[in-house]
Amino acid sequence: MKILVVGSGGREHALCWKLAQSPRNPTIFCAPGNAGTRQIAENIAIAADDITGLVKFAKVRGIDLTVVGPEDPLCAGIVDRFQSAGLRIVGPTAEAAKLEGDKAFAKQLMREAGVPTGEARVFGPTLQEIAQARQSRGQREDAAHPELLTGYEMARHYISTRDEGIVVKAAGLAKGKGVFVHPEPADALKTIEDLMVNRSLGEAGQRIVVEELLIGREVSVMALVDGRTIYLLETAADHKRLGDGDKGPNTGGMGAYSPSTILSDADLVTIQRDVFVPTIDALRRDDVEYRGVLYAGLMMTAAGPKVLEFNCRFGDPETQPIMMRLKSDLVEALEATVDGRLDQIELRWDERPAVCVVMAAGGYPGDYAKGSAIHGLASADAMNDVHVFHAGTAVNEDQIVTNGGRVLGVTALGGDIRTAAARAYEVVSSISFDGAVYRRDIGMKLK
Ligand code: AMP
Ligand code: GLY
Repeated sequence: MKILVVGSGGREHALCWKLAQSPRNPTIFCAPGNAGTRQIAENIAIAADDITGLVKFAKVRGIDLTVVGPEDPLCAGIVDRFQSAGLRIVGPTAEAAKLEGDKAFAKQLMREAGVPTGEARVFGPTLQEIAQARQSRGQREDAAHPELLTGYEMARHYISTRDEGIVVKAAGLAKGKGVFVHPEPADALKTIEDLMVNRSLGEAGQRIVVEELLIGREVSVMALVDGRTIYLLETAADHKRLGDGDKGPNTGGMGAYSPSTILSDADLVTIQRDVFVPTIDALRRDDVEYRGVLYAGLMMTAAGPKVLEFNCRFGDPETQPIMMRLKSDLVEALEATVDGRLDQIELRWDERPAVCVVMAAGGYPGDYAKGSAIHGLASADAMNDVHVFHAGTAVNEDQIVTNGGRVLGVTALGGDIRTAAARAYEVVSSISFDGAVYRRDIGMKLK
């Protein structure tokens, strides 16, 4: 069996690693992959968003199953294209992936389906309106559209009437940089000017969601969905901020542990019933069938779980500790997702928690250097239950070097979260590269 994994992060290394353990003994390809996937899969030099190139590769090489890591190709319709070419692929279609790709769409759907989420208003033109305005004026893609700025004026007015904290979100995909938390609502005025007038995130920020600031503890819950059956995976908690004590800017995630320590079984039943089921049902009413991984970022508030965001894919880094804990065959689980057989599977998990500490390049999530030699990678080899997943790494003349913002995800199992964290940090302290940064409190302050 041949499996293609699309992407190049820690998530994709963890997926390749788990898929490689399948009793089906698959041959794994990773496009484009990193220095870690290269050790267990054949890296293919095709970018994750080169859908035409990926379809061609899968056809020519007779790939049996494709697994997509990142959101961009999913939102751009990679699943639709593979399916039209008669290829099997795990993930939602472009229409279903709008749950992540268009936050205004997701908000509207949640409101209509009665899914608990923060109160919010949407401002600014739809992508279709922007395209129409551009066409009618014969403008280039990056030109401003003065007639569309009424959305900005309305957002300004709305924000100036608020006296509680608010969160401004770019409606489109922004690589984790599109969410701005403002405990003081007046501070949000500058954010919306940047997004809507100065177009700091391009078209992604022309339309915005202004949401109430929710107070509580955050958890990540992922499910495999086969169109009908929703199978919740083990839970996780992410550490989004760059610095210790949740200080500094938001990042893609600086570490994670699984399971979350705050969710009871009763909470999971509530989340399944009030979040996943009505969301999948609402899509189906619009003739959209969701197949793939659905990730709900949730705030556990005093009034119960509320959805912060949906992602249409595996989370990163959450997938790293979750894959360490999965005992069952991932190939079988993903095939069941594609084939609509999730009601027939039962996943087994390691009872022990797992903790992932991300080592990043200095400067991340802003600009950072690439190409620094990474030393000490073998330090985990002699240890049981620790794995160093690669994210932004590459090979340069036989030396493994940094090649991205998040560089490594050092992931360990332990009898409890603290033991797992201590084991991960033991390995982290023996790995080095110029400018390496990491949080010292992953799994320490349990949220
Ligand atoms: P998102 O990408 O929408 O999950 O947002 C990134 C991060 O911003 C989340 O993980 C939260 O920490 C924070 N956030 C998003 N929405 C809210 C909200 N309504 N209230 C408080 N924090 C939020
Ligand atoms: N760790 C958050 C995400 O994958 O979006």
